[in-house]
Amino acid sequence: MNILGIETSCDDTAVAVVNSDGEILSNVLSSQTEFHAKYGGIVPEIASRKHLELISHVCFESLEKAQIKWSDIDLISVTKGPGLVGSLLVGVEYARGLSVVLKKPIKGINHMEGHLLSPLLTQKVPFPYMGLVISGGHTEFVLVEKSGKYLKVSSTVDDACGESLDKFGKQIGILYPAGPLIEKLAIEGNSKAYQFPLPKVKKDPLAMSFSGLKTSVMHVITSLSSEDLLKEKQNLCASYQYALFRHVLVTAKKVVLKYPVRALTISGGVSANMNLYKTLSDGLSVPVFKPAKKLSTDNAAMIAYAGFLRFKAEGPDSLNFEVFSNLPLASYNTV
Ligand code: KG4
Ligand code: ZN
Repeated sequence: MNILGIETSCDDTAVAVVNSDGEILSNVLSSQTEFHAKYGGIVPEIASRKHLELISHVCFESLEKAQIKWSDIDLISVTKGPGLVGSLLVGVEYARGLSVVLKKPIKGINHMEGHLLSPLLTQKVPFPYMGLVISGGHTEFVLVEKSGKYLKVSSTVDDACGESLDKFGKQIGILYPAGPLIEKLAIEGNSKAYQFPLPKVKKDPLAMSFSGLKTSVMHVITSLSSEDLLKEKQNLCASYQYALFRHVLVTAKKVVLKYPVRALTISGGVSANMNLYKTLSDGLSVPVFKPAKKLSTDNAAMIAYAGFLRFKAEGPDSLNFEVFSNLPLASYNTV
């Protein structure tokens, strides 16, 4: 069985083909980064227009790379939320069209479910595991008892970790998405050069908060002359990244203490950061798994795979399912 996955929830137009053994036959992505970079973040109107321009090309390329024909597709799996509604609609309408023309079933998938299952595409991760989805839009811990059985146990109450990196980057002159360059600069800096307070969310010890750290680092940035800011860039990146990841680690320790699991997985854009992986691997008592880089950031292979598992359990969706900007993650009954 070949599953065509389509992902357009944010700024990447992605189409992949995955088979029922979980093998990735193609995983094509067209990034819109250059069109958004000068605005310092995603502009929703630009994102949906670009998806419209790109979706068909990316889909044809994905089939070509997978060396399959349209008639070889058995299921169409598409992200239906959470995300930017205009962007989601482009992917979902395209998928609906394919489903009608090819007479093949369709499945609408939660983007978070894709991220949570993405480490399984290339590794054997023991269940139950704690999935940390850490990206530009999300920072949350979800207990994955098995594929299809999810319990959200912790999340940020304000900014996402990647968002916090991007906002900090903007202040020191790093273009969106700032995470990869901050990681590089941090390697050359001293993480103890500046000390930032460990965030605490009073009402919920498992919750995270990144906006206070952002305010603290802004105070430092505005106190420096532009000459000193240039000299201090590496130290600031190292210290800020350290503060963010220490907060994630401290929360992760509490989370795995409360919910005993056999592993922790990290996925989402920030999980591409090797320092985050090392911080969590060194600091936790459970093994940490991260997906391959192409599967850390947004991609359609994870949507195809999640769609296949959900299709097996639930069967197809009707054609008229809706898209949701805030779609809660729903479990399903597995046999
Ligand atoms: O998952 P993703 O591609 O898109 C969503 O937000 O859903 O994640 C993008 C985020 C951005 O905030 C970007 O700065 C961050 O992931 N990111 C990184 C790295 N690569 C991407 N953050 C830290 N280190 C990286 N190497
Ligand atoms: Zn994502």
